[in-house]
Amino acid sequence: MNSSLSIQLWKGHQCAMKDEWENPDFAIQWDQTALQINPTRAEELDLLVRLLEEMYQEGATILDLGISSGLVEALLFARLPHAWVVGVDSSSVMLGLAAQRLAAFEKRCTLLAHDFTDIESLVVPKRRYQIVISVQSLHHVPHHKKQAIFQFVADLLAPAGLFLLIDRIALDGTHFADMYRAMWKRLEEGSESESGTSSDDFLLRLQDKEDYPASLEEHLGWLRLAGLSATCLHLHLHRALIAGKKKSDEAVVSGERL
Ligand SMILES: C[S@@+](CC[C@H](N)C(=O)[O-])C[C@H]1O[C@@H](n2cnc3c(N)ncnc32)[C@H](O)[C@@H]1O
Repeated sequence: MNSSLSIQLWKGHQCAMKDEWENPDFAIQWDQTALQINPTRAEELDLLVRLLEEMYQEGATILDLGISSGLVEALLFARLPHAWVVGVDSSSVMLGLAAQRLAAFEKRCTLLAHDFTDIESLVVPKRRYQIVISVQSLHHVPHHKKQAIFQFVADLLAPAGLFLLIDRIALDGTHFADMYRAMWKRLEEGSESESGTSSDDFLLRLQDKEDYPASLEEHLGWLRLAGLSATCLHLHLHRALIAGKKKSDEAVVSGERL
C-alpha cells in the first residue's frame, strides 16, 4: 500500500471523524493501511506477540476483544500455530475479512459477532481463558462500558491469567500540545512506515475523532478496581501496552495481594 492511499484514508478519517466498520470500502482500506496510519503499531504488535509467545500455555484459549480483520492473529499463528483463539467483533464486514485471512486456522479460531457495549450478554465458548487481548478497540466504547468490559475480563480469566491491552490513550493537549507535536515528528521520522501526517493534523485528529480514549491513569485505575494488578509495559506518546494480571489461586487462598 503506498503512502498516498494511507494519507487519503487519514484525511477521510478527518472528514468522517467516525470509523465506519460496517462500510466495506472503509474496512478494506483500514485493513490495508493499519500499519501506515500508526507509526508505532508494528513495534507494539511485535511486543504483544513476543509476550504471547512467552506466556501462552499449551491448550489454553486467548480471547481477542476486537479481532477485526484478524491482522493480530495472522502474526500470532505464525509464531504459535497451536494456539486456541476466540475473537469477538461487532462488525460483520471485519469478521468476514478475518475469516478469509485466518482460513488455514479455522479450527483454532472461533469468530463471534457481538457489541462490547453489551458485554454482559456476551457468551463465549467454555474454555480456560488464560489470556485476553484487545488491540486498538476499546477506545471505541464509552468509559463506563470500558469499566464493565474490564470487569468481564477479570471474571473470565483463569487464575494468574493476563489481560494485554494495546490502545490509544487520551492526551492533555491543553498543556502539552507543543511537546506532543515534537514527539509525533520524532516518531514519524524514526518509523519504517511514515503516515505522512503533519504534527498539526495529528493533534487535530485526536481532538475531533468521535471516540473515547481514556488516560493511562484511568486505564490502570479501572483494571485495579476490577481486581487485577495493572501496569504499563510500553508507551509511545498516545498508544500504550497495558497489562492486567489476575491473582493466582494460591494468592486468593492465602489472602495475599499481588
Ligand atoms: C482499529 S480496529 C482494531 C482491530 C484489531 N484489533 C487490530 O489491531 O488489527 C477496531 C475494531 O473494533 C471493533 N469495534 C468497535 N466498536 C466495537 C463495539 N462496540 N463492539 C465490538 N467491536 C467493536 C471494530 O469493528 C473494529 O474491527
